[in-house]
Amino acid sequence: MLEIGTGTGYNAALLAYRLGEDRVTSIDIDPTLVDAARAALAAAGFSPTLVAGDGADGVPDRAPFDRLIATCAVPAIPTPWVVQLADGGVIVADVRAETSTALITARRTGDGTVIGRFHSVPGYFMWLRPHAADPLRESAQADNVFDHTGARRSVTALDPAVLRDPEFGFYVSIRINDIVQSVTAADPLAYVIRTRDGSWTRVDASTRAVVEVGTRSVWAEIEGAAQEWEELGRPARSQFGLTVTDDGCQHVWLDDPRSVIQPGRP
Ligand SMILES: C[S@@+](CC[C@H](N)C(=O)[O-])C[C@H]1O[C@@H](n2cnc3c(N)ncnc32)[C@H](O)[C@@H]1O
Repeated sequence: MLEIGTGTGYNAALLAYRLGEDRVTSIDIDPTLVDAARAALAAAGFSPTLVAGDGADGVPDRAPFDRLIATCAVPAIPTPWVVQLADGGVIVADVRAETSTALITARRTGDGTVIGRFHSVPGYFMWLRPHAADPLRESAQADNVFDHTGARRSVTALDPAVLRDPEFGFYVSIRINDIVQSVTAADPLAYVIRTRDGSWTRVDASTRAVVEVGTRSVWAEIEGAAQEWEELGRPARSQFGLTVTDDGCQHVWLDDPRSVIQPGRP
């Protein structure tokens, strides 16, 4: 069993107690945490294998694993996790985006494909570092520092509060590419969304006034996704699943693994 994100070692202690310490490997990117966890685990009478390193790479020396649990969130399942999973093995991870967080349990089949469904409950784990670190997200400031040059203004018929619906937030995350920030700005309450190319949109919650800047019409894409989501019958996260192959390809599907949802621009 491999745990990504040792942290305090608490979860590793539970795993070692339940499975036996010889069967547990846990990795954390922060060597200081690993040292502290090793000491805490030893004090509790456990010495599972602890590794300081990037969990995105897995721990090839200890593979294959029957189970892999990630206690930090990933934007997509890293290929080494799939490769290091035994046939029949299970991954539990929080697959996160800027508009959603979704736990998944996925099992590896005999042909090396990992397939599973998202849970109805969210994960809310911290991001796996440093791969998920995005300079745009890291540098994101209040919306008043945004460049308003060439701003396009309109009023939307779509209530922006729909973005607070976690099921719609999940649909946005799988349908719209490259959202790097989605925040609620206070005073007045507004929704701000930015995409990787630097485009951004700000929608006032009460007046529904929309400001859009950049080559993408991000709000138009949100409106398109909202219309699709309605037409699909407002599907919940738990109706979606994920298929990952060991060459790194992954796609999300709705209800049936053959009904693939293509990411793009609605
Ligand atoms: C929510 S905490 C884990 C809690 C832990 N399982 C426990 O029982 O205390 C998330 C952990 O993920 C670690 N982490 C973040 N990015 C990582 C990466 N790339 N590889 C391994 N660990 C990482 C953090 O250092 C942090 O300790």
